[in-house]
Amino acid sequence: MARNRHASIWTRVSGAPEKMGDLVLSEDQTAFTYTSDYLASGQPGFCLLGDVRIWGNESVSYPISERIPVFPRLLSLVPGNNPRNLQRRHYLDILRATLGREPPPGPETEWRLLVMGGHGGIGHVDVFSDDISAQAWYGSNTPTPPMGTTTAVSKSRSQLWRMLKRNVLDENVEFDPRVIEQTLGPTPSVGGMIPKLLVSMTPGDAQANLYPPETPDRRDVVLKIEPPEYAGLLDLEALCLEIHREAGFPVPAYARYEADGLQFLAVERFDRSAGRPIPMESLFSVIATGDHLFRETGDILLEELGGVIQRLRQVATLPEDTGAQLYRRILMALLTGNGDLHLDNLAFLGGLSDCRLAPVYDPAPMRAWPRHNLVSAIPFDPSGYADHGTFFVELGRSFGLSRDQVKKDIDDALDATSDYSERVMDLPRVPVQQRSQLAEIAKKECRLLLPYTD
Ligand SMILES: Nc1ncnc2c1ncn2[C@@H]1O[C@H](COP(=O)(O)OP(=O)(O)OP(=O)(O)O)[C@@H](O)[C@H]1O
Ligand SMILES: [Mg+2]
Repeated sequence: MARNRHASIWTRVSGAPEKMGDLVLSEDQTAFTYTSDYLASGQPGFCLLGDVRIWGNESVSYPISERIPVFPRLLSLVPGNNPRNLQRRHYLDILRATLGREPPPGPETEWRLLVMGGHGGIGHVDVFSDDISAQAWYGSNTPTPPMGTTTAVSKSRSQLWRMLKRNVLDENVEFDPRVIEQTLGPTPSVGGMIPKLLVSMTPGDAQANLYPPETPDRRDVVLKIEPPEYAGLLDLEALCLEIHREAGFPVPAYARYEADGLQFLAVERFDRSAGRPIPMESLFSVIATGDHLFRETGDILLEELGGVIQRLRQVATLPEDTGAQLYRRILMALLTGNGDLHLDNLAFLGGLSDCRLAPVYDPAPMRAWPRHNLVSAIPFDPSGYADHGTFFVELGRSFGLSRDQVKKDIDDALDATSDYSERVMDLPRVPVQQRSQLAEIAKKECRLLLPYTD
């Protein structure tokens, strides 16, 4: 019989590190038990539907599957399984060196990756192999001096750039992983398909110097690095962030950098406030924790999301207009050619008592690339509608919106994107094929919604 695996979950949600509880993984389920101190503290749980207020003294449990082999909330702390994921490469290198052989693919290795890289990431949950490792990590996790002033420091900058050139641009250059580790620390896992680092930066620094997260007087950012197979992606993503900002959506500060042949998009982190982590959980995680049969984005329909918000309202305090906000984001995704608004690209911030939608992130218009040209990553059933334009109009009703409100939201989204195609065509770094494909798609979606306005 397989052995149980144990880990410890800590948090700095109160401003200081404290243990939240113990995590156990057995062959067919995972369980989490809060410490009595944490139970008494009244602080947010490790995930919304695993909150202390719902489970009390009982252990929170979840039946694992091949697709979701840990609590859904912890999935984003395991480095994404794609060849460009910088953290996965880094941790596999360390594991290879420790084991003296190739780490076997499968749950054993995934668990090791979780306990190695599952702290200091997005949100307030830190996973460690045990309490001693937790205390050691918090004790040593004091920011190192900035790079770029001494010889040693410029050496580390050049090593870091070599690492990115090798791992993201596939250039045949060598780098010393130990220097990267000394400079940035073991960089925490972060989800998503595009290579990225959690670092801090100085706004406006044309050199794009990188510092470890939480360096004083810098801004903590999610730093995305453009891989060659998606040339122009970061310009398109920045344009879509801008369009959402102009339309009045909450959007984090962001900046584009180009340094030494590498393209960066730095997006300020909104899961931190005055140095404290804010709970953050994807819609994917909330749905999967609540529905044990749910395994992937394709297991729910767009028209069911309004009901999900209603059910969440039974346990969490959510702003009145959450459904409306979600509908507006779906309309913007449709009109900007972002077919990739999946359930990990939508998230909640806060705990049960102060839960709200996270600002807009990752609005990249992936339909510019033929292999991502899907109307919506979250499936929908357009049968019974004249075209999918009519479906997206009717969708507003499933979020509890009146016909007048739906019409206003469509007007606003069309206004916000009225010059989108021209702005796409004006981006010189984006290959012409991607620009024209995207501009055509955006115009077509716009034509489908136009009949529903005055
Ligand atoms: N500004 C931010 N503040 C806090 N967390 C963020 C921010 N931006 C992104 N994240 C988190 O990092 C994750 C990965 O970021 P993002 O979605 O931008 O990457 P991606 O590689 O483009 O993803 P995808 O696989 O959807 O294309 C997000 O799912 C979210 O949890
Ligand atoms: Mg994403």
